[in-house]
Amino acid sequence: MNGNKHEKTELLTGKDFWNTASFDGVKSIRFSDGPSGLRAQEGKGDHLGLNGSAPATCFPAHSALAQSWNRQLCFEVGFAIGNEAKRANVDILLAPDLNIKRSPLCGRNFEYFSEDAYLNGFTGASFARGVQSAGVCACLKHYAANNKERGRMVCDSVVDERTLREIYLTAFEIAVKEANPAAVMTAYNKLNGTYCSENNLLLNDILRGEWGFDGITVSDWGGTSNRAKSCKAGLDIEMPACKLSYAEVVAALKEGTLDESAIEACTQRIKKIANSERAAQDICVRENLVKKCAEECAVLLKNDGTLPLKNSNIVIVGEYAAKPLIQGGGSSKVNPKAAKNLKDILPYKFAYGYKGGKAKRGLEKKALKLCKTADTVIYCMGAVGDFEGADRKDLRMPENQVRLLEKIVKLNKRVVVVLFGGCAVDTSWDKDINALLYAGLSGQDCAAAIADILQGKVNPSGKLAETFPQDLNDLPSTQNFNGNPYYTLYREGMRVGYLSGVKAKYAFGFGLSYTQFRYSDLKADESGASFTIENIGNVYGGEVAQLYIEYPEAANAPAPFLKGFEKVFLNAGESKRVEIKFDNYSFRSYDAKNKKWVRVAGEYKIYIGAASDDFKLNASITLDGVNGVPAPETQNLKPAEYKLNRNKKGRVIVDLNTPLCEVKNAKGTFGRLFAKAALHFVKNKPTVYGSMEYLPLRTMAQFGKMKLKTIEGLILIFNGSYFKGLAKFFKKGKRG
Ligand code: GLC
Repeated sequence: MNGNKHEKTELLTGKDFWNTASFDGVKSIRFSDGPSGLRAQEGKGDHLGLNGSAPATCFPAHSALAQSWNRQLCFEVGFAIGNEAKRANVDILLAPDLNIKRSPLCGRNFEYFSEDAYLNGFTGASFARGVQSAGVCACLKHYAANNKERGRMVCDSVVDERTLREIYLTAFEIAVKEANPAAVMTAYNKLNGTYCSENNLLLNDILRGEWGFDGITVSDWGGTSNRAKSCKAGLDIEMPACKLSYAEVVAALKEGTLDESAIEACTQRIKKIANSERAAQDICVRENLVKKCAEECAVLLKNDGTLPLKNSNIVIVGEYAAKPLIQGGGSSKVNPKAAKNLKDILPYKFAYGYKGGKAKRGLEKKALKLCKTADTVIYCMGAVGDFEGADRKDLRMPENQVRLLEKIVKLNKRVVVVLFGGCAVDTSWDKDINALLYAGLSGQDCAAAIADILQGKVNPSGKLAETFPQDLNDLPSTQNFNGNPYYTLYREGMRVGYLSGVKAKYAFGFGLSYTQFRYSDLKADESGASFTIENIGNVYGGEVAQLYIEYPEAANAPAPFLKGFEKVFLNAGESKRVEIKFDNYSFRSYDAKNKKWVRVAGEYKIYIGAASDDFKLNASITLDGVNGVPAPETQNLKPAEYKLNRNKKGRVIVDLNTPLCEVKNAKGTFGRLFAKAALHFVKNKPTVYGSMEYLPLRTMAQFGKMKLKTIEGLILIFNGSYFKGLAKFFKKGKRG
């Protein structure tokens, strides 16, 4: 490229909310969300799903898709969304999301596949391969350790290196190596004291150096704190457009803290991806893909034989039968082309029972009257809190829904619950019901799928991709989740989800069927394992056979890891020999002391199971290797110091990186009033409030499109220098 170093800087930040600049032979790149379907915005762009987007197919959220445990299905969903993106002239789809569900309290868990790195990695890789097979670039996100929403733009995820490698990076590593994605998006948060967007270890050493990633890195929207530092660390594109960056990069070049070679490296990588021609492969996806997905994503958690439904005097209760929960809130939000509902599909009587999340006496009375005389009640419940930007306080279901269920089970002895939601919830209310079908957030055709499952036209084959704990406090991550907004200590180390050994209410990998399967004849050697599955029931069905490996004691591993899975569909009486090959991830442990992957010598126990707490077959193999690796070092985790500049009275001296909530205590009265008013105005919108509360002022240059002099003027005013601040506003300035 011929442009001079300053002109090339144009490429380092966006041109507007969704596009980069075209410059000197480098084409513009158009980005768009998202993981559940295309969120293409022609008008005002936003990163929270607040403004409209073009109608698109709404697929199951990643959390539901993972419950299919079906790589091919994940591929086809990626391909289908990629197709819609291609037709909308989108170059990079901002998906898949590969963050680990560290705690079910995270409001954005619905957008993540699993608590398990292996399942996360292979479902995510299949999705990414699908997107790229449609001729659109996939973008793995949010790299890395973005496991909670509150304070996500300032929070420091403090993780020991072995846990970071084995739990939080492995899914990204698998997807990079299996799918060769064109892009990776850095997370908002810091990792061990350094912003992910400025983290040389993550971007240059591990992603590029160790994994061989040769695509581009892009920040999350508003997720940079200094463009010169992030350029130096290997962040290629900052999004959206930021008017501060030019000044920061030019100043760093002048000071010599940024070398022109770093800019050249970024712009060359951008040019390679921007100018790459990506043809769509000629792949046909199955008919009714969205419905097929929802069929395979649903998990039958409880059933005393009431399902499939056997009689016709049935009543459906609950507003989600009229308006099913098909997706979560935030940047993944799709404007669905269509969304059917259960009450119109099923030929049964219907009653709301409750509406708008509140008990309504009249509605309740009508519902209970119908429940009294029905043979069977189908009661639809929906979790709350599945949105970006905010976290949950607990896993309880809405009080009004539980209270109504208690009344229904007193009136009717045959109750089936259909549960919508994108995360593990408390299910202590399920003791008196006959069946529980967990529908997840399964896209625009979930109602048709649920109807077919309830009526027995489809046999459920989904399995949980996260643990439903008996008690939230049984999960070690709970103690260190909602602590200080400026840092999170991952004291639980690798003991995440089923790896914590928690006694689950419904375990990772669990799911019932209308038929039964028998496992037999396991053989295992260094190359892999094989075994036979037989459908011993009387209906066709799908089973996800899971392979877990228990490491030798010297490996200091927390519990048997999921290291393979195969989904097989069998007719009644049919059997199949299943083979699972071991791979590079099967026997490795990360030795944090010597900073390398090793294999520990000893006996490896191989389990074949129908769930993480239901092993059917076992074998063992003995392997050579090193003597052992130390357990994760989690007791001495320390956050990087985060301090706010304060004056003698303790008032905050505001700067570019001061979060809005701290401006409430700014030196200047206007600053305090401004911040309090801004946050008060959005206090009833959790996604917006959560995203604004710890929003660094610098992002006003991006989301508010403010110029540098405007922000500098505001900061002076927030600090009480009113006249200097006003003078700044009117200062003549060429750029920024
Ligand atoms: C966000 C999200 C990211 C999304 C981006 C653009 O806030 O964290 O996942 O792709 O903005 O909408």
